[in-house]
Amino acid sequence: MQVRVAYNAKHTASILRDSDRFYSSMAEKILARVRKERHGQAQLLDVGCGGGYLLREVVRHGSSVLKATHGLEISDMALREARRQSPQSRLVLGQGERLPYPQGHFDAVVCLGNLEHFMDPAAGARELARVCRRDGVAWILLPNSYYSGSLWRVILTGYGPNHHQVIDRFATINEWRDLLEANQLCVDSIEPYNRFKWWKRLLPRNLAYHFLYSASPSIGSHQENCALDLKVQGVQVDSTIQSGPLPADPPYGLHCLPPSDIP
Ligand SMILES: C[S@@+](CC[C@H](N)C(=O)[O-])C[C@H]1O[C@@H](n2cnc3c(N)ncnc32)[C@H](O)[C@@H]1O
Repeated sequence: MQVRVAYNAKHTASILRDSDRFYSSMAEKILARVRKERHGQAQLLDVGCGGGYLLREVVRHGSSVLKATHGLEISDMALREARRQSPQSRLVLGQGERLPYPQGHFDAVVCLGNLEHFMDPAAGARELARVCRRDGVAWILLPNSYYSGSLWRVILTGYGPNHHQVIDRFATINEWRDLLEANQLCVDSIEPYNRFKWWKRLLPRNLAYHFLYSASPSIGSHQENCALDLKVQGVQVDSTIQSGPLPADPPYGLHCLPPSDIP
């Protein structure tokens, strides 16, 4: 699969990752929620777990709270690093759009900085909802097209946002919320990502940050989800993989799998 090859090349150059501070604050947030509700019984899944840094932090701070931690990745290079970082976690090579787990299996599902890179984010969102328990929570980190750094980039270079990945998509705070809610997730809260940078508080919230969505599964009809067309801007496809099975025309429309294809 070409996306896997491209991500393997990226992870070989250097594992894509965030700061240790980010992973430990995210782990605290997850564990605070799970500790209250399902102490010792909770199952966690990190979809697009990369080098396993979040899994490592969650295990380090909450091994007694969790029954098991799972990670899924499209890149085997990233999974090798994840095995080093979090040897206790159960790791699987796979695609976020087709998760190999039963319905309602996880108390906490995490997808940080990945959904915007999926070939089919709508299917990815439905899969997050499917594998999450009804009383569970999914955390999804997504990039803001009008993030302050992106605005500076446009001012200085004339180019829009770019995270230099195989497929990049950007949307506003509410456009992403609409995508999640059209795909069986009910958004409970939206928090600014990277609040560590104090100067961002001087800017309007919708421009200063990328956003962390916390959501729970909602019940919705497949037909309704397919009917909704969503404006997600800035689809960029790496030219080296254009011959692959990628969506043809930006802006990205929803691609719905028939229900029987969803595992
Ligand atoms: C920006 S990295 C973030 C990694 C990790 N979530 C973290 O925060 O460290 C994006 C990750 O998504 C993975 N990815 C991209 N498309 C995917 C897909 N369709 N299914 C599963 N993983 C995918 C990539 O291999 C990469 O590791």
